[in-house]
Amino acid sequence: MPNEIKWDLLHEQAKIAMKNAYVPYSKFPVGVSALVNDGRIVSGCNVENASYGIGLCAECGLISNLAMTGGGRLVAVVCVDGNGDFLSPCGRCRQLLFEHGGNELLMMTPDGPQPMSFLLPWAFGPANLE
Ligand code: THU
Repeated sequence: MPNEIKWDLLHEQAKIAMKNAYVPYSKFPVGVSALVNDGRIVSGCNVENASYGIGLCAECGLISNLAMTGGGRLVAVVCVDGNGDFLSPCGRCRQLLFEHGGNELLMMTPDGPQPMSFLLPWAFGPANLE
Protein backbone atom coordinates (compact mmCIF):
# COMPACT_ATOMS: atom_id res chain seq x y z
CA MET A 1 0.00 0.00 0.00
CA PRO A 2 1.51 3.37 -0.96
CA ASN A 3 1.96 5.49 2.14
CA GLU A 4 1.45 8.76 0.32
CA ILE A 5 -1.31 9.76 -2.06
CA LYS A 6 -0.12 12.17 -4.74
CA TRP A 7 -3.44 13.94 -5.29
CA ASP A 8 -1.93 16.49 -7.68
CA LEU A 9 -0.61 13.70 -9.90
CA LEU A 10 -3.98 11.94 -9.92
CA HIS A 11 -5.64 15.25 -10.80
CA GLU A 12 -3.24 15.79 -13.72
CA GLN A 13 -3.78 12.24 -14.98
CA ALA A 14 -7.56 12.65 -14.76
CA LYS A 15 -7.36 15.83 -16.84
CA ILE A 16 -5.24 14.02 -19.45
CA ALA A 17 -7.76 11.17 -19.53
CA MET A 18 -10.61 13.67 -19.92
CA LYS A 19 -9.02 14.95 -23.15
CA ASN A 20 -9.64 11.51 -24.70
CA ALA A 21 -13.37 11.54 -23.99
CA TYR A 22 -15.68 10.74 -26.91
CA VAL A 23 -18.68 12.95 -26.22
CA PRO A 24 -20.32 14.06 -29.49
CA TYR A 25 -23.77 13.98 -27.87
CA SER A 26 -23.47 15.50 -24.41
CA LYS A 27 -20.33 17.55 -25.11
CA PHE A 28 -19.55 16.81 -21.45
CA PRO A 29 -16.13 15.19 -21.18
CA VAL A 30 -15.19 13.34 -18.00
CA GLY A 31 -11.84 11.93 -16.93
CA VAL A 32 -10.98 9.81 -13.93
CA SER A 33 -7.75 8.46 -12.48
CA ALA A 34 -7.08 6.26 -9.52
CA LEU A 35 -4.17 5.03 -7.47
CA VAL A 36 -4.03 1.23 -7.11
CA ASN A 37 -2.65 -0.45 -3.99
CA ASP A 38 0.45 -1.60 -5.89
CA GLY A 39 1.32 1.98 -6.83
CA ARG A 40 0.15 2.09 -10.41
CA ILE A 41 -2.33 4.61 -11.78
CA VAL A 42 -5.35 3.63 -13.90
CA SER A 43 -7.57 6.02 -15.85
CA GLY A 44 -10.70 6.27 -17.94
CA CYS A 45 -12.80 8.67 -19.99
CA ASN A 46 -16.45 8.63 -21.01
CA VAL A 47 -17.28 7.09 -24.40
CA GLU A 48 -20.76 7.88 -25.70
CA ASN A 49 -22.86 6.13 -28.33
CA ALA A 50 -25.49 7.05 -30.93
CA SER A 51 -27.76 4.85 -28.83
CA TYR A 52 -27.57 7.43 -26.05
CA GLY A 53 -28.46 5.20 -23.12
CA ILE A 54 -25.56 2.80 -23.59
CA GLY A 55 -22.80 5.39 -23.34
CA LEU A 56 -19.98 4.44 -21.03
CA CYS A 57 -19.09 6.61 -18.07
CA ALA A 58 -15.44 7.41 -17.48
CA GLU A 59 -15.41 5.17 -14.41
CA CYS A 60 -16.38 2.18 -16.59
CA GLY A 61 -13.21 2.70 -18.59
CA LEU A 62 -11.17 3.03 -15.42
CA ILE A 63 -12.47 -0.24 -14.00
CA SER A 64 -11.77 -1.98 -17.31
CA ASN A 65 -8.25 -0.51 -17.28
CA LEU A 66 -7.82 -1.76 -13.70
CA ALA A 67 -8.73 -5.32 -14.65
CA MET A 68 -6.74 -5.31 -17.87
CA THR A 69 -3.55 -4.12 -16.19
CA GLY A 70 -3.50 -6.57 -13.31
CA GLY A 71 -6.39 -5.83 -10.96
CA GLY A 72 -5.79 -4.79 -7.38
CA ARG A 73 -7.59 -2.49 -4.98
CA LEU A 74 -8.37 1.16 -5.64
CA VAL A 75 -6.93 3.48 -2.98
CA ALA A 76 -7.69 7.01 -4.17
CA VAL A 77 -9.75 8.48 -7.05
CA VAL A 78 -10.01 11.84 -8.80
CA CYS A 79 -12.83 12.49 -11.28
CA VAL A 80 -12.95 15.70 -13.32
CA ASP A 81 -15.25 17.51 -15.74
CA GLY A 82 -14.26 19.39 -18.89
CA ASN A 83 -12.89 22.28 -16.85
CA GLY A 84 -10.72 19.98 -14.80
CA ASP A 85 -12.88 20.60 -11.75
CA PHE A 86 -13.65 17.75 -9.34
CA LEU A 87 -16.78 15.93 -10.48
CA SER A 88 -19.24 14.01 -8.37
CA PRO A 89 -19.51 10.48 -9.83
CA CYS A 90 -22.98 9.21 -10.67
CA GLY A 91 -24.58 6.58 -8.46
CA ARG A 92 -23.86 3.66 -10.76
CA CYS A 93 -20.20 4.60 -10.88
CA ARG A 94 -19.97 4.87 -7.09
CA GLN A 95 -21.13 1.25 -7.06
CA LEU A 96 -18.46 0.32 -9.64
CA LEU A 97 -15.76 2.03 -7.58
CA PHE A 98 -17.01 0.48 -4.32
CA GLU A 99 -16.62 -3.03 -5.73
CA HIS A 100 -12.89 -2.46 -6.22
CA GLY A 101 -12.07 -0.13 -3.35
CA GLY A 102 -14.58 -0.70 -0.57
CA ASN A 103 -15.45 1.72 2.20
CA GLU A 104 -11.86 2.97 2.58
CA LEU A 105 -11.43 4.18 -0.98
CA LEU A 106 -10.84 7.94 -0.90
CA MET A 107 -12.36 10.27 -3.48
CA MET A 108 -11.34 13.88 -3.95
CA THR A 109 -14.20 16.39 -3.53
CA PRO A 110 -14.28 20.19 -3.27
CA ASP A 111 -14.18 19.60 0.51
CA GLY A 112 -11.10 17.38 0.30
CA PRO A 113 -10.81 13.59 0.23
CA GLN A 114 -13.89 11.65 1.37
CA PRO A 115 -14.20 7.89 1.92
CA MET A 116 -16.67 5.79 -0.04
CA SER A 117 -18.42 5.05 3.27
CA PHE A 118 -19.48 8.72 3.14
CA LEU A 119 -20.17 8.92 -0.61
CA LEU A 120 -22.08 5.61 -0.79
CA PRO A 121 -23.29 4.82 2.73
CA TRP A 122 -24.44 1.31 3.68
CA ALA A 123 -23.36 0.11 0.24
CA PHE A 124 -24.35 -3.21 -1.24
CA GLY A 125 -21.24 -5.13 -2.17
CA PRO A 126 -19.44 -8.47 -2.36
CA ALA A 127 -19.82 -9.07 1.39
CA ASN A 128 -23.59 -9.18 1.02
CA LEU A 129 -23.32 -12.24 -1.23
CA GLU A 130 -21.34 -14.32 1.27
N1 THU B 1 -20.47 10.82 -16.83
C1 THU B 1 -19.37 10.10 -16.47
O1 THU B 1 -18.55 9.72 -17.32
N2 THU B 1 -19.18 9.82 -15.16
C2 THU B 1 -20.01 10.23 -14.15
O2 THU B 1 -19.81 9.86 -13.00
C3 THU B 1 -21.09 11.18 -14.46
C4 THU B 1 -21.46 11.27 -15.89
C5 THU B 1 -20.66 11.09 -18.26
C6 THU B 1 -21.80 10.34 -18.90
C7 THU B 1 -22.09 11.20 -20.11
O3 THU B 1 -21.20 10.82 -21.15
C8 THU B 1 -21.73 12.61 -19.65
O4 THU B 1 -20.96 12.46 -18.47
C9 THU B 1 -22.94 13.48 -19.34
O5 THU B 1 -23.81 12.84 -18.47
